[in-house]
Amino acid sequence: MKTAIIIGVGPFEGVGGYLCDYAAKQGLHVIAAGRTQTKLDAVVSQVKANGGQATAIVCDATVEAEVIDLVRQAEAIGPVDLAVYNAGNNFNGDFLTMEAEFFEKCWRVCTLGGFLFARETLKVMQDRQAGTLLFTGASASMRGKPRFAPFTAAKAGLRAMAQSLAREFQPQGIHVAHVVIDGGIAGEKIIKGVPRFAERAGEDGLVSLHGIAQAYMYLYQQPKTAWSHELDLRTFKENF
Ligand SMILES: NC(=O)c1ccc[n+]([C@@H]2O[C@H](COP(=O)([O-])OP(=O)(O)OC[C@H]3O[C@@H](n4cnc5c(N)ncnc54)[C@H](OP(=O)(O)O)[C@@H]3O)[C@@H](O)[C@H]2O)c1
Repeated sequence: MKTAIIIGVGPFEGVGGYLCDYAAKQGLHVIAAGRTQTKLDAVVSQVKANGGQATAIVCDATVEAEVIDLVRQAEAIGPVDLAVYNAGNNFNGDFLTMEAEFFEKCWRVCTLGGFLFARETLKVMQDRQAGTLLFTGASASMRGKPRFAPFTAAKAGLRAMAQSLAREFQPQGIHVAHVVIDGGIAGEKIIKGVPRFAERAGEDGLVSLHGIAQAYMYLYQQPKTAWSHELDLRTFKENF
């Protein structure tokens, strides 16, 4: 059975959680990877309850040895055919009082982790000349906004790296794509974490988890003769 590694899995009602469920419905054994065991266990239970196969592996995407071990463990279960880099919490703050450490932390999660994960998954995909590697982007991948300088720098860096990898590995049969999620997501992070933001967004004002997961699976299923490198997703209400 082929495997899918989704790194950056939090609550089930989140991009990572939904991707685990949708990838399992494609017949893949899902490796749900993230920092918090209890959250991963809850996602794996839900995926199994929905008829899929899944394994939780605790992994901090910024720690090289852990990422190497994650891919090794996934390959022991089955060949990695889908890999998604989804890690990245929102970072914002006052620029003039911002510590260098804060900027670096944001870059580690949003960019360096993407490099480590891409390097390890591309190694095993290259051996087979097959596989799909997807990256989660945000509005910040495309444009900077006040208070979001580090997040923008990090997400734009991830997007630029994804372009570079697509041009390098596409000729070797590996599909590399980047998904820009342009707006708040209708998941736990916003609905429970920032309820006032969700209220202000109003009905259909947040990007749906179903729509996001469907888009990733669409990329995964694309034939080699019609690959997209980038998709952008926003609600019909979003100004852009
Ligand atoms: N939420 C939004 O409105 C929004 C909008 C646009 C784009 N995005 C992008 O969507 C992705 C996340 O989607 P989501 O907000 O629905 O969250 P989610 O997929 O439910 O959860 C993402 C998880 O990534 C994990 N993570 C953070 N740092 C990590 C690390 N170093 N190693 C491993 N895992 C790590 C976090 O785990 P912990 O729970 O342990 O911290 C978090 O729960 C991010 O790439 C984000 O930039 C989000």
